[in-house]
Amino acid sequence: MNNSAPSSERYYLTTPIYYVNARPHLGHAYSTIVCDAVARRKRALGIDTWFLTGTDEHGQKIERSAEQAGRTPAEFAAAISGEFRGLWERLGISNDDFIRTTEERHKRGVQKLFSVLCERGFIYKGSYTGQYCVSDEAYVDGPPGTPCPDCGRITETVSEENYFFKLSAFERKLLEFYDANPGFMGPESTRREVISFVRGGLKDLSVSRTSFSWGIPVPGDEKHVIYVWLDALANYITALGYGSDDPKDQARFARFWPADMHLIGKEISRFHCVYWPAFLMAAGIPVPRSVRANGWLLFDQGKMSKSRGNIVRAETVQEVLGADALRYFLLREIPFGQDGSFSFDALVQRYNGDLANGYGNLVSRVVNMVHKYFGGVVPDASALTNAETALRESAVQAIGAFGPAFDELNFSEALKSLWLLVAETDGYLTANAPWKKPPERSDADHALLQARVLATAAEAIRVITGLVYPILPDSAAKVWRQLGQGEIADAAKNSFLTTLAWGGLKAGTKFGEPAPLFPRAEKDAVERMQNIEDQNNKSVIEAAGGKSEAPAAATASPSVAPTAPEVNAEALAKGTLTPTTVVPVDTAQPIATAEVHQVPAALESARLSTTPPAAPAGAPLTPATEAVVAEPQHISIDDFVKVDLRVAQILVAERVPKADKLLRLEVDLGYEKRQILAGIAQHYEPEKLIGRKIVIVANLAPRKMRGLESNGMLLAASLPDGAPVLAGFLEEVPLGARLK
Ligand code: MSP
Repeated sequence: MNNSAPSSERYYLTTPIYYVNARPHLGHAYSTIVCDAVARRKRALGIDTWFLTGTDEHGQKIERSAEQAGRTPAEFAAAISGEFRGLWERLGISNDDFIRTTEERHKRGVQKLFSVLCERGFIYKGSYTGQYCVSDEAYVDGPPGTPCPDCGRITETVSEENYFFKLSAFERKLLEFYDANPGFMGPESTRREVISFVRGGLKDLSVSRTSFSWGIPVPGDEKHVIYVWLDALANYITALGYGSDDPKDQARFARFWPADMHLIGKEISRFHCVYWPAFLMAAGIPVPRSVRANGWLLFDQGKMSKSRGNIVRAETVQEVLGADALRYFLLREIPFGQDGSFSFDALVQRYNGDLANGYGNLVSRVVNMVHKYFGGVVPDASALTNAETALRESAVQAIGAFGPAFDELNFSEALKSLWLLVAETDGYLTANAPWKKPPERSDADHALLQARVLATAAEAIRVITGLVYPILPDSAAKVWRQLGQGEIADAAKNSFLTTLAWGGLKAGTKFGEPAPLFPRAEKDAVERMQNIEDQNNKSVIEAAGGKSEAPAAATASPSVAPTAPEVNAEALAKGTLTPTTVVPVDTAQPIATAEVHQVPAALESARLSTTPPAAPAGAPLTPATEAVVAEPQHISIDDFVKVDLRVAQILVAERVPKADKLLRLEVDLGYEKRQILAGIAQHYEPEKLIGRKIVIVANLAPRKMRGLESNGMLLAASLPDGAPVLAGFLEEVPLGARLK
């Protein structure tokens, strides 16, 4: 099956293509940084490398996000895709190509793949009724109301005439393939999971949809669009040129396919290790050589993701500590394949410990001393002692150990062992103290010692710098210049890693000017990063019209579907909320004084948050308090339309065990069913709510309460005693109708 050019000549690696429903955050940056480091090392080893990343722009999820943002899917996708591309440029990511699935070259390739699958008899038309998770764009086994096993959201029942891919025909073939190619997928946990999934039996897979149109049409049957995962996975071949008649594209495809490594997040291994090889086998295309799954970056205990509202942006770290600090932290701190926690404290600690005080300080001491004692020219190190031999041996060992660990993606181990060499060089320098001449040592002897020690330490630094270049490209470039080695990017083009060995720093080499590498992060660095994030969140919230739990990234421009604000819990608790409010009820918080039904909650809490405290909780509504409310910060109609208020009907209502205020509701929006948690249990009997039509904020970021996910919040007025009264209608209204 794998019969193209051997890996030693060329290397093709890919990141997942990122959904454009959310702006990039550190979780995305992690996958891309891992690939970038690998690509840089491969190139510096003289391997013809092709590194692809891009954006996944089709599907119902994007279509809905765009609608919620009041934009066309194409505009919306272009804006967010641009943010990904911009971030990679800013971080110095060295991708060779960036594919957008809305590009013509991709569409052409996907349609060709679909046609080939049809021609070869692996696609047929049938009808399907089942559960679908829009968020994960995945089919789920189970009865209506089944939550998605991956994200916990309630699935939607879809019933359509679809095209099906004969996945069932690949059960045996895949198992045989995994058996014959033990290195195909990793880490071991992923391998085990995938194999047990396939052993559990494979059903044919629906590969088209008719219920929405934002996708690539099925060739010859345009009312169907191609299943978003078939569309997305194909990016790995369409970007190379699959489906193109241009000989240049065909040559690139022939050269680089099959991929050497698809780097993915662990949650998408089924798509990459089961569906993707099956599609390729069916189409007669070689399968990739390996798929490697990274673990999740956690923040505040949970997977960093837009829907949890716990994201940190890569730009924030870059701004305060630089991109290399982020790269180092992610690769050193997280053993590849495992989940790892991100925190500003841990980041700053590593930065100061390993980079500022460790490597950076070592470089600066040595470079400065070579300037001070030898006019910036590398001295001749004659009459070596055991100390130099020992350091040389350690360096040779580091060269031998670093590559294999790195190539196994054990970045953390590779860096750990390299930093032993940093520490040893530091110790060597301190032990020999070339800056200090004891009175009994002659000037000539001291000059010899200085020459020997500084030349040896500088050589160790050169080795360390060469090895660490793929992980710290900017800093390594600076050190390379300071060591008089020229541009490390040129050295990489000349495959310098193939010949990196002890002894490369020649006496007489003129050093470059010393320049700061990693200025020590002061105490306020954590605070500064937190402030940047808070500031950013605040501007996004202001743009969205209130307090948000799931802020998106940068303040500028259109993009991400805004999230509706929540009731200001702190103000509520303190009783500082002004009256005249319709309170969104999705928490078990006490509810403040309120009335009036006309103003959507999102807008109301926006202005409440900027209004000075007025009446105490429970105070009667007086003209005076109204006067305070009458000085709102106005929002524009554009802000208003961002809040997606919809009519929904309660299908299921039940108490949440051990939470006396919470009800779990399943509501029908007409176009989908959802689970919502509401803090109304003390005021409404669950069984009396069934069938009732209510109003919900439909585009509020999901969040978890008592381990259950709440997808939206319902609206209620709050009476003076705190009792909620659900918003409703006197006339008949269809489910899903929008309030505007
Ligand atoms: N579009 C699909 C992938 C299609 S590939 C043919 C998708 N997109 S995604 O934007 O939701 O996620 C893409 C990748 O981002 C994940 O697989 C993972 O590599 C990375 N991550 C997003 N959040 C992450 C963390 N919190 N931690 C680590 N990686 C994360 O799935």
